[in-house]
Amino acid sequence: MCGIFGCISEEALEKILDGLKRLEYRGYDSVGIAIINNNEIIIRKNKGKLNEFIENLDLNNIKSNIGIGHTRWATHGAPSKENAHPHTDCSGRIAIVHNGVLENFLQLREELIKKGHKFSSKTDSEIIAHLIEDFVNSGLSFKEAIKNTFKILKGSIACAIISTMEPNKIICYRRESPLVIGISNKGVFCASDIPALLPYTKNIAVVPEDKIVILEENKVHAEDLNGEICKLEYNEIPWNLELAEKSGYPHFMIKEIFEQPRAISDTLKIPLIYIDRAIEYLENKKVYLTGSGTSYHACLFGSYLASHLLSMDMRPIISSEFIETLSLFDNSTVIAISQSGETADTLNAIRYAKSKGAKIIGITNTLGSSITNLSDVYICTQSGPEIGVAATKTFLTQLISIILLFLRFGLKKGKINEIDYNKLIDEVNNIPKITEEILKKSDKIRDIALKYSLKQNAYFLARGINLVTALEGALKLKEISYIHAEGYPAGESKHGPISLIEPGFLCVFIAPRDNTREKIIGNIMEMKARGAEIFSIITEGDEEIKEISDEYFEVPFVNYILYPILCTIPLQLFAYYTAVFKGLDPDRPRNLAKSVTVP
Ligand code: AGP
Repeated sequence: MCGIFGCISEEALEKILDGLKRLEYRGYDSVGIAIINNNEIIIRKNKGKLNEFIENLDLNNIKSNIGIGHTRWATHGAPSKENAHPHTDCSGRIAIVHNGVLENFLQLREELIKKGHKFSSKTDSEIIAHLIEDFVNSGLSFKEAIKNTFKILKGSIACAIISTMEPNKIICYRRESPLVIGISNKGVFCASDIPALLPYTKNIAVVPEDKIVILEENKVHAEDLNGEICKLEYNEIPWNLELAEKSGYPHFMIKEIFEQPRAISDTLKIPLIYIDRAIEYLENKKVYLTGSGTSYHACLFGSYLASHLLSMDMRPIISSEFIETLSLFDNSTVIAISQSGETADTLNAIRYAKSKGAKIIGITNTLGSSITNLSDVYICTQSGPEIGVAATKTFLTQLISIILLFLRFGLKKGKINEIDYNKLIDEVNNIPKITEEILKKSDKIRDIALKYSLKQNAYFLARGINLVTALEGALKLKEISYIHAEGYPAGESKHGPISLIEPGFLCVFIAPRDNTREKIIGNIMEMKARGAEIFSIITEGDEEIKEISDEYFEVPFVNYILYPILCTIPLQLFAYYTAVFKGLDPDRPRNLAKSVTVP
């Protein structure tokens, strides 16, 4: 939810600010830095976005080679200067930045207040600095004080700490929230996510669960809370810096929409060994799918696909409802989908399912994320880093991964014959080319978005597997353009939602040429008869639906299981251009953050 960056390097402040810029997608309601200069901790923090913060930064050329920074998405305590990180202890000798949620802070805070500690914020995080101070005051070394602090704190934690007691070190700790480490001849670094480190190194290690990592000039050391040394596993990250920058596009979201042909193409190259390992967990199992937001829509896609291709019932369950919904896990597998691999709701669903004996297949875009650690086997989509808060390329690659997994499973189990399998695989391999063609027509969507950008409401209606697209199209529009949008099964719309229809109400229909088309035409007519404005996503050359629509966008004819991939693209563009026409920042929609690490 929040972004952490720390470094020991020349011109640390500049690097911290650059790192925070690359992490701002994780939270942007307040920002702060702490650097050490002449054995004193200097803190600057404020409410608001990073750009304003940098403009007003009054550091009078103070130089430092060590520091930490934070960009916040508020959980405990409203966005304000006081609640912004870094937080310090009473003496100002310790500064901390934290990402996560501390569950037992209230009771600990009371105890510390009784001992005389003075708190300056309403956050849960501040307690970390005071607890460390308290342990130091009781005679422990700085490192032991940190270890004791994390032993008693409950909840999710990624934390970086500096202190004048040991001014050449940054000490980090991680539990459940993400934190990565990088080292190169440019310095040593820690951050919440890989893109922030790419300007300095591709040699990156994930901080292991429940370990502290001590960064010093040119060296990094890791150990557990009992002092046992552990080895960090560094991986050469194949992403280039360009993937984490706008590269001439005005926003990350539009860049990422246009990257989809490449992202799909790379995902199609996932080595079969990963798919085959996952298949083993599908055999003779009761299968559930779970995810949140857009990733839940991928689960829904999986459920339709399983029923159509494999004649298997796989229930999709929204992660935050998972524990409330399921109690029996006899011989079960859960396919857990999360682009970030850090969504708290999804991780909680996984932990619950595991505790009941279920096996987990993870599908994520983030190697080394919590989901890869918790899963029995995982498939890593190859989107590259996704910075825009709205999920775009990661969604399409999730769909591709599910198709690859189920097609291969179907072939192995004799549910799909070889001829059909090869035909479908040929079509899937053609998707990158088709998506390029669709993107070439983005101007048409821009014009449609301009026409409808002042609408207050919209329904996105579809039937069958295209419901996935309707739900995703509505979520995209609502989250970045703040238009009230609802995705609905078109057949269900006459059981209530239709009462809202009045002249000019926008209805977006996903109406490609498949077995849902005839009935969808009926639903379009019902809405049209009540004065709705109709915008349809159709298959090329469908004159009949063009006739009855006010606006339309054509996609090529494909096997019906692939329409959710094609039809989502114009709706991503529609949401993007609508937000831009309304003067909104599509990369940083209000109240949202890229990975939601609170339940
Ligand atoms: C998508 O545009 C949203 N930002 C959101 O619904 C997102 O898909 C959801 O929070 C799940 O994230 P995850 O895939 O990282 O688990």
